[in-house]
Amino acid sequence: MSVSAIAIVRLEEKHLAAAQVLSTAVNWPHRRQDWSFALKLGRGLAAMDRDSLVGTIIWWPFGQHYARFGMLIVSPSMQRRGLGRLLMEAALRDAGDRTMLLNATMEGLPLYEKFGYKPIGAVRQHQAANAVPASAPLPEGASFKSMQETDLDAVIALDEQAAGFRRAELLRALKKIGEGLILEQGGEIAAWSFLRRFGHGYVIGPVGAGGEMAARALIARWISGNGSEFRRIDVPLSSGLSPWLEDQGLGRAGEVVAMALGEPPVPLATGPRLFALANQGLG
Ligand SMILES: CC(C)(COP(=O)(O)OP(=O)(O)OC[C@H]1O[C@@H](n2cnc3c(N)ncnc32)[C@H](O)[C@@H]1OP(=O)(O)O)[C@@H](O)C(=O)NCCC(=O)NCCS
Repeated sequence: MSVSAIAIVRLEEKHLAAAQVLSTAVNWPHRRQDWSFALKLGRGLAAMDRDSLVGTIIWWPFGQHYARFGMLIVSPSMQRRGLGRLLMEAALRDAGDRTMLLNATMEGLPLYEKFGYKPIGAVRQHQAANAVPASAPLPEGASFKSMQETDLDAVIALDEQAAGFRRAELLRALKKIGEGLILEQGGEIAAWSFLRRFGHGYVIGPVGAGGEMAARALIARWISGNGSEFRRIDVPLSSGLSPWLEDQGLGRAGEVVAMALGEPPVPLATGPRLFALANQGLG
């Protein structure tokens, strides 16, 4: 196969059964529904060798200034022939002059470095095969509350302070397919979190909070409740949560490098922080 025989076309719902075969081939856990969720929120490109899907990428716009991309996969038998580069170039053309963010696997790192992406952090994945009995003390005067539609505007505003850019569409979509849990303190939202089905079971995130204690309290609730299945959480190394998660029985399952091409977003210095991602791709 020569790369000139490959066509780059828009990734559509009709490609997703084949896309799921691709992600399984590189040992990613995404279900068909996870692909569909990711694609509906963003714009995908497919590398086609005649009728066969041999590569994918999805990028998600966050306003005019930022975008994130993920789901970059090249079929194992077609790797190291320039297809990853081709897909990335097409996504960068689509995304215009937005700062591009991504979480890089060790396999993707050399390619991203060649494009000039710079490391801005690290993300560690923790997981457990079953629910584990976890608990964490609540900050004084705080109480749990199930997140309602009416809470979303406030959650979106806090998340924007923590992320440094607005993620309204993502958070609204996560609430639709999953559940949200808030920690209230003195009538204000002190911390927020989401849980949804993903991959082998459930994924916890994003989680945002004013402090680590509030973040732990929410995460402990999700770890120990909501069915006995597999759960996973992706936390920035800078969150400091990694050793605590291990103590709770969520072992380390891998690490990726957070990277940016262009000026990275700047979270509000005095605002809340993000303690967990939606997942590695979506950030
Ligand atoms: C990462 C991935 C998409 C790269 O796709 P690919 O088609 O093999 O990449 P390319 O052939 O376009 O390589 C692009 C450049 O990176 C370099 N490169 C790619 N893989 C490399 C590796 N493992 N080590 C060193 N350099 C590498 C190539 O030399 C090439 O450089 P050049 O264009 O200057 O010659 C592919 O390995 C893959 O699907 N991996 C599994 C899924 C994954 O981890 N995706 C990344 C998620 S962040």
